[in-house]
Amino acid sequence: MNNNKVVQWIDTRLPIFTFMRHALKEYPTPKNLNFLWNTGSLAGITLLIMIITGITLAMHYCPDPEDAFQSVERIMRDVNYGWLIRYIHMNGASFFFVLVYIHIFRGMYYGSYKSPRELLWILGVVIFLMMMATAFMGYVLPWGQMSFWGAKVITNLFSAIPIVGDTIVHWLLGGPTVGAPTLNRFFALHYLLPFGIVAIVCLHMVALHQFGSNNPSGVDPKHPSEQIPFHPYYTVKDLLGLSIYLFVFAFVVFFAPNFFGEPENYNPANSMVTPVHIVPEWYFLPFYAILRSIPSKLGGVMGMFGAVFVLFLLPWLDRSRVRSATFRPLYRPLFWVFVLNSIVLGWIGSQPPEGIYLIIGRGATAYYFFHFFVLLPLLSVIEKPLPVPDSITLYLDQKKRAV
Ligand code: HEM
Repeated sequence: MNNNKVVQWIDTRLPIFTFMRHALKEYPTPKNLNFLWNTGSLAGITLLIMIITGITLAMHYCPDPEDAFQSVERIMRDVNYGWLIRYIHMNGASFFFVLVYIHIFRGMYYGSYKSPRELLWILGVVIFLMMMATAFMGYVLPWGQMSFWGAKVITNLFSAIPIVGDTIVHWLLGGPTVGAPTLNRFFALHYLLPFGIVAIVCLHMVALHQFGSNNPSGVDPKHPSEQIPFHPYYTVKDLLGLSIYLFVFAFVVFFAPNFFGEPENYNPANSMVTPVHIVPEWYFLPFYAILRSIPSKLGGVMGMFGAVFVLFLLPWLDRSRVRSATFRPLYRPLFWVFVLNSIVLGWIGSQPPEGIYLIIGRGATAYYFFHFFVLLPLLSVIEKPLPVPDSITLYLDQKKRAV
C-alpha cells in the first residue's frame, strides 16, 4: 500500500490506485512472452498519438468542400508545426495498421483466439472494423482526388444491396452524391469513432486480464514460478520496444512522410475528372482485391465484408485443441501460406483488375476463404499435433536443448 496520505485517502473511496497496481504492476504474466507481445501496448500508444494529433488538426480543419483542401494546405504551411502534426497523423494511421496486422497474425499463429479467449478476440475484430471505418472516413477529409473518388467508389458499393441499396447510399452520403453533407458527417464520425475504439480497447483489456496473456508455447502457466510481475519486467520490455518503434516512426515522418501516400491526393477533388487508377490506402488493398475479384457487384461486396467477418468465426472454425502453431506440423506451414496469400492479395489490390492480375486475384481470393472454411476445420480432424509439453518450464527446457 502506498504511504502517501492523499493517495490513501483517494484510494479508500475510489480504488483507482489499487486497480492500477493490479493491472500494471503485480499483474502476473507468462515469463516467456516474445517481442510480438509488444504490439498490443504499441497499438494502444499509437491510438493515443492519433487522438491527440487528430484533435489538434481538427482545430484548424474546415469540413466544407469549398475550404477542406485549402485548410489542410494551411495546416501544412501556416500553422506552427502543422506539417509535423499532420505527418504524424497521416503516417500514424499506417503504423497503426502495421501493428494491428502483426497483432492479428500473432494471435493466429499462437492460437490466442482459442478458448477461453474467444471474446477477447471478438472484441479485437470489432476494434479492427472500427479502425477501418475511421481510416476510410479520415482519408476523405483532405478532399483530394483520391479522397473524393475513394468515397464515391466505396459508398456506391452499398447500392449492390437488393431493393434498399440506393436508399442506403443516399442515406450514407446525406444526398444524391458525395458532397458537403457527406464531408460533414464523415468529419463528425471520424472524430467520434476513435473514442468508441478506446472504449472497446478497455473491454479488450478486461477480457485479457480475466485469463491473462497466452504465450508462445500456448500452454497455460501451471506454477507461480512460470509467471513474472508485469512491472518491471514487461514495462521495461515495452519501453525498449517503444523506443525502437518511435525511432522508425520518426524516421518515416521526417525523411519519407509521403512514402505511404498517394500523389494524386495532392490534387483538389474534382467531380469532372476521374483518376486513372482509384486505389485505396495500402491497408485496404487485400480487401479491395477480393472486392474486384468476384465478378458480380453484390458478390464482391459480400466477399469483401465476409473476409473481415470470417474472423469472428475463427475460434469455432479451428477446433484443434492445441493452441500454438509450434506444435502443429500442418497448420504451421499453412499459416505462412495464408500470410503470403494475404500479401499477394494486397499486391493485386494495387494493380488494375485485368488479365493475369484478375486471374491471380481470383485464385488468392478463393484460397483466402478455402483457408478458413475448408483447411482449418479439416486440420482440426486430420492433424496429429507434436507432443505438447506439460508446462512452460518444460517447453523452455525443450527449446534450450534444441539449440
Ligand atoms: C486498437 C487496437 C488494439 C489494441 C490497442 C490492442 C491492445 C492489446 C493489448 C495491450 C494486449 C496485451 C498485449 C499483447 O498481447 O500484445 C492485447 C492482446 C490481444 N489482442 Fe489486442 N489490441 C488491439 C487490436 C486487436 C485486434 C484487431 C485483435 C484481433 C482481431 C486483437 C486480439 C488480441 C488477442 C487475441 C490478444 C491476446 C494475445 C495473447 O495473450 O496471446 N487485438 N491487445
